[in-house]
Amino acid sequence: MELSAVAERRGAVTPVLQIRDLSVARSGELVIQGINLDVRKGEFVGLVGPNGSGKTTLLLTILGLLEPIPNTGGEVRLYGNDGFSKSDHGRIGWVPQAGSKIPNHIRITVREIVRLGTLNSRNLSVFGGSRRNLRVERALEMVGLGDKADSEISRLSGGELQRTIIARALASEADFLLLDEPLVGVDPPSRNSLLKLLDDLCHQEEITILMVSHDLTAISQAAHRIIYLEGGVRFDGPSEDLPDFSSLAGLRGIKHVHDDHSHDH
Ligand SMILES: Nc1ncnc2c1ncn2[C@@H]1O[C@H](COP(=O)(O)OP(=O)(O)O)[C@@H](O)[C@H]1O
Ligand SMILES: [Mg+2]
Repeated sequence: MELSAVAERRGAVTPVLQIRDLSVARSGELVIQGINLDVRKGEFVGLVGPNGSGKTTLLLTILGLLEPIPNTGGEVRLYGNDGFSKSDHGRIGWVPQAGSKIPNHIRITVREIVRLGTLNSRNLSVFGGSRRNLRVERALEMVGLGDKADSEISRLSGGELQRTIIARALASEADFLLLDEPLVGVDPPSRNSLLKLLDDLCHQEEITILMVSHDLTAISQAAHRIIYLEGGVRFDGPSEDLPDFSSLAGLRGIKHVHDDHSHDH
């Protein structure tokens, strides 16, 4: 039976994201296999796993940039639609890995970067201007950068830059944020305020969040649910139930970065 029909019969709200039997290959190599998961509106999901385990690949497949292996029956549904529907354009906000690595010799202000988020095929209308401006100002407020809007990005801290990139995603009126390693290169105090911001967006704005991080400590504090990916889904459940993977042999590239290493000496 069609997924949407099942949901209708249950009278349930359609999940924001539904993934069924998804396998993806890159350069002929199987990267992820047999993924099944749903993400519901307002959930804050952390996606973790070792380097090369397919986290970015999964996000790119959700965005429709990579395809499931043909004839495997794999599917990705967004808002109950098969793949990326035009009407949902702009509802998905993408914060790419190293997204804040904008060359800092480029003279561009925070507001100008955020305005880039409003450029899409939907709003190329002559009357779009004032609405677009409202969205930009609201996104700046949401990430707490209203007072930095006219600052050049070269003057921002790592955390502020990352918040600018998140605002760019929000300016498209996204209600589903996909973030790939947004904490990398962000100093610990800014990291905390960034996580607080994401938590607020989730609770106050009902924004759905799927965030990749190898910072287990940070992500298990912030996310309600953790998915551990290594080829397939190895764990999917409440953050507090995440097994201590760091004790498993062969696990690399994933660590509790805030661990106190004083006992090492
Ligand atoms: N552009 C690419 N072409 C071919 N293989 C790739 C490409 N990008 C990543 N891969 C491979 O896909 C696998 C998963 O990569 P990725 O999804 O980036 O992992 P993660 O984000 O979990 O570190 C790795 O084995 C990687 O070498
Ligand atoms: Mg990655």
